[in-house]
Amino acid sequence: HDVPLQETFDATIAAEQRIEPRDWMPDGYRKTLIRQIAQHAHSEIIGMQPEGNWLTRAPSLRRKAILTAKVQDEAGHGMYLYSAAETLGVDREDLTTKLIEGRQKYSSIFNYPTLTYADVGTIGWLVDGAAICNQVPLCRSSFGPYARAMIRVCKEESFHQRQGYELLTTMMRGTDEQRAMVQESVNRWWWPALMMFGPPDDQSPNTAQSMAWGVKRHTNDELRQRFVDMSIPQAQALGVTFPDPDLAWNAERGSYDFGEPDWSEFMAIVKGNGPTNLARIARRRAAHEDGAWVREAATAFAAKQAGQTRS
Ligand code: 3HC
Repeated sequence: HDVPLQETFDATIAAEQRIEPRDWMPDGYRKTLIRQIAQHAHSEIIGMQPEGNWLTRAPSLRRKAILTAKVQDEAGHGMYLYSAAETLGVDREDLTTKLIEGRQKYSSIFNYPTLTYADVGTIGWLVDGAAICNQVPLCRSSFGPYARAMIRVCKEESFHQRQGYELLTTMMRGTDEQRAMVQESVNRWWWPALMMFGPPDDQSPNTAQSMAWGVKRHTNDELRQRFVDMSIPQAQALGVTFPDPDLAWNAERGSYDFGEPDWSEFMAIVKGNGPTNLARIARRRAAHEDGAWVREAATAFAAKQAGQTRS
């Protein structure tokens, strides 16, 4: 019997099961998944730039090897996510064009400059830590290819976070200058890391629908709170503080109270007016244009291969 397609879709979501690429899905579901997965993929690729700045200046071969592995992982995360987006009928070339033309976004966090080497550790600890908070629930997202991509990504992110935290613990055991460098870095990255989770729930146009469809499993504020609660004991163990005078344990809530991020700064960055927005896109455009010959050669070679096997 042909149960209407919408009913089958709704029953699958209600049963907390997976929607797969060949299943019928409402246009809005497809559209919001393409939007979120594409922007997630763009974030991974753009995220290679701030850390890439320190590849040639890492203080030891070990630190350089670790950072190289991490930056390579981010490229791979981008590939998994573009592949997941392509199962929804879009083409990664077109998504890259949209990114370069500013018609699709990437995470606000990558519009801040990496000014000192301690930033490499702080990004691992806080930025990848925030990403883990956000991405672990996405392993249970209702769209199969996205959820499965997240499982591999989360395993690699936990390496990213540990290497960052280990780097900072090493510096904290060093000189006063190194300890000061770590604290100054944490002061710069704490608030942008909280903004990674998106605007407050009451200013989030996509959250309600994404929660109803099981695309998101928690709201922006819920994940932000989870990240704050997780990070404070880690900061205490490290011996650093966060630049928020309102941070205080709330025994009633069983969570930490914290101050309000600067949402006007966030909106300016999301609109493309951050400290490094233009440089990030210019770099991405240049990489895409400089790599055109590689794509042409690979396509020509594949066509030749296909021709030979046919003849
Ligand atoms: N940076 C840029 N834009 C953001 C943003 C951020 N931190 N947070 C929200 N926005 C945008 C949204 O994209 C949306 O605009 P759009 O409708 O044009 O796409 C608008 O602001 C309103 O936000 P909503 O809360 O309504 O949007 P979402 O429901 O999509 O929630 C999100 C935003 C929590 C980022 C969600 O999209 C999400 O969970 N995405 C997957 C995770 C992700 O993208 N992470 C990137 C972090 S970097 C990373 O993971 C790399 C790692 O190696 C560090």
